[in-house]
Amino acid sequence: MKQNLDWNNLGFEVRETNAVIVSKFKDGVWSEPEVVKDLNMVLNVYSGVLHYANSCFEGLKAFRGVDGKVRLFRPDENARRMQRAGVFLDMAYPSEEMFVKMCLMCVKENLDFLPPYGYNASMYLRPLLIGSNPQLNLLTSTEVTFIVMGNPVGSYSGTASLTPVNAVICRDFDRAAPNGTGSYKLSANYAPSFRAYNRAHAAGYKEILFTDSLTHTKIDEFGSSNFFAIKGNSYVTPLSDSVLPSITNKSLQQLAADFGMRVEKRVVPVSELDEFSEVNACGTAVVITPIWNIVDKATIEDSAIIGNHVFGSKEVCGKTSAMLYNTIRGIQDGTVEDAHSWCITL
Ligand code: PLP
Ligand code: COI
Repeated sequence: MKQNLDWNNLGFEVRETNAVIVSKFKDGVWSEPEVVKDLNMVLNVYSGVLHYANSCFEGLKAFRGVDGKVRLFRPDENARRMQRAGVFLDMAYPSEEMFVKMCLMCVKENLDFLPPYGYNASMYLRPLLIGSNPQLNLLTSTEVTFIVMGNPVGSYSGTASLTPVNAVICRDFDRAAPNGTGSYKLSANYAPSFRAYNRAHAAGYKEILFTDSLTHTKIDEFGSSNFFAIKGNSYVTPLSDSVLPSITNKSLQQLAADFGMRVEKRVVPVSELDEFSEVNACGTAVVITPIWNIVDKATIEDSAIIGNHVFGSKEVCGKTSAMLYNTIRGIQDGTVEDAHSWCITL
């Protein structure tokens, strides 16, 4: 049944939808993807994922365009990133074809929940890969479950798009170890940051910026998104083995180059922050979220401030970042030509 949700105020939260799509890997083969209406699933209490977090996930969006068409933004890239994580975890993973097919099935089954054009809302797809066989030993999953869920969402921060937010550098907790798991979208990367997020939110900061865990002198990324900055005519983003290779960031780098900007993917020292005119978080959930202020302290709760970096205005997004935002959102909505053939239509 067509849903009549408050499309302007969806936020980023779970809603009960029509169905999820499920496939199971057992005895060396994936089962035919199934439409499952009950969102509560039965798992053996010894399932590996519940104990050892043998699990990875993805995030991508489907949009209802100005022309009525439904577009998925670069699902092939998400498929390949999940495959990297599957290889890292040494567990079975879906082929690119199966991944994309199940994403399309999920949107089709939940079309009633796909936000209409014009509300700056979309359907967030969450593909999840979990080790589901019972296990006590520390061994690779022999049975794996792949689920694709879909959820109508608005803005991640809960404010109007392009509303600048503040951030704090986290110096007393490291998100990703050198040679660790930061560049893979493993579920296990996220829970350890919840406490840091709670502390940051209680102290009045919306986002957390993580630096390299060895020296804490180089910028890595935010807890939910990549970092990019504008410096003159350059698009600057950190080169680091501990950062998740963001599909949004990759796309924005291409768009910046298309606009004739210089793209610098390189080590970004914290000491360079004051040289940037615009700083943003970018990712599927956050799209482009301008950062107007980054505070640096020894610990999140410390009253002593080591550094206070302010970019542009607290009220409005910088001009270059807004141009990049409008271009990527236009491609997703079908109002800007998809020159790189990024979108797949339903
Ligand atoms: N970095 C982290 C830690 C993330 O969780 C995400 C979200 O997926 C991103 C970056 C952005 O990646 P993408 O643009 O592919 O969504
Ligand atoms: C996404 O942007 O898809 C994410 O996975 C962010 C999420 C962890 C909040």
